[in-house]
Amino acid sequence: MAVLLTGGAGYIGSHTALTLLEQGEDIVVADNLCNSSEESLRRVQEITGKKLRFYQADVASRSDMEELFSREPIESVIHFAGLKAVGESVEQPLRYYRVNLDCTLTLLECMAGHGVKNLVFSSSATVYGDGRPPFREGDPTPGCTNPYGWTKLMIEQIITDAAAADSGLSAVLLRYFNPVGAHPSGRIGEDPRGIPNNLMPYIAQVASGRREKLTVYGDDYPTPDGSCIRDYLHVCDLAEGHGRALAYARAHSGVEIINLGRGQGVSVLEMVEAWGRANGPIPYEIGPRRSGDIPVSCANVDKARELLGWEARRDVEDMCRDSWNWQRNNPLGYEK
Ligand code: NAD
Ligand code: UFG
Repeated sequence: MAVLLTGGAGYIGSHTALTLLEQGEDIVVADNLCNSSEESLRRVQEITGKKLRFYQADVASRSDMEELFSREPIESVIHFAGLKAVGESVEQPLRYYRVNLDCTLTLLECMAGHGVKNLVFSSSATVYGDGRPPFREGDPTPGCTNPYGWTKLMIEQIITDAAAADSGLSAVLLRYFNPVGAHPSGRIGEDPRGIPNNLMPYIAQVASGRREKLTVYGDDYPTPDGSCIRDYLHVCDLAEGHGRALAYARAHSGVEIINLGRGQGVSVLEMVEAWGRANGPIPYEIGPRRSGDIPVSCANVDKARELLGWEARRDVEDMCRDSWNWQRNNPLGYEK
């Protein structure tokens, strides 16, 4: 029996594929490569010495997915596929709603048609909006500030409704905080297209000389050093969290929402310092605030500990060291 990873060629999916292969799972990946490269999966197989099966498929396409589900003995699904750039979602809201919702609806229909009952979904801390951190899973989610976030809230609702109508369906909705870092081999990592939006890949590209300096977006927030605080989490810890969530989904039914973070806030300036300790200093300047940023985002991680027996093990310096190892070995990402 196999686990299907939709979007499994991407950043988090490829690290999860690696972890699950190492745990002895049989892995099938469906990805249309719109934001990734098949090279990530070639390297996952090289690192683990194990094979997976790849389908270049559009998860929103019923015919693509029917073909996959009829050929493969799928028993569980981890659903990563979708578009994820917050700023782009504001500029192209219909594309984000179309892709993210269609992928999920097609997947749920195929799962129902083929009797597949276990699902883990990539949600996001963005659903907490500008609520009061540390965020707990039961906190209200009154709405999001961008279409990307709304797609995550809508998909959480769709999966919850599907599970209410099918008592056999088991779903774990994982709300990730800020995944960063790379596999310690330096062979797989985050490969953003164009100028990175996110802090860690931007810092890494400054360190490699591809960007001149980091701009810290605001030092006048109500935080101890004035820069924004986030709950950064090593992508290998996150991948291990998926292994636990899968085991949980297999053993239960119904829906659980679970935060995955470290439960520790780190400011932008603290991250720049940690990078300097791990890898040497980078140039930066203070700039204006970025629109839409909240001052503090941080998880309460009690539920992950209690239900999954999972806790992040890697610290901020591990995240910086592994990001740099990936960046300096692959200055242009997966491009040759
Ligand atoms: P990613 O872009 O690297 O991976 C997503 C993958 O989905 C890509 O490989 C892309 O090619 C694929 N994809 C997109 N549309 C598809 C389609 N129609 N059919 C098939 N494949 C398709 O992103 P990631 O950082 O690995 O994120 C994985 C998931 O986690 C996403 O759902 C994202 O929204 C969510 N998430 C990410 C973060 C983060 O900071 N990286 C935070 C919270 C949640
Ligand atoms: N930042 C800078 N300079 C940069 C880039 C980022 O100062 O060049 C700051 C941001 O202002 C923010 C912090 O670094 O204060 C983190 O920013 P990221 O863009 O790395 O992460 P966000 O918390 O804004 O967003 C991330 C994901 C979203 C997800 C959200 C909540 O990118 O997809 O976490 O989970 F929705």
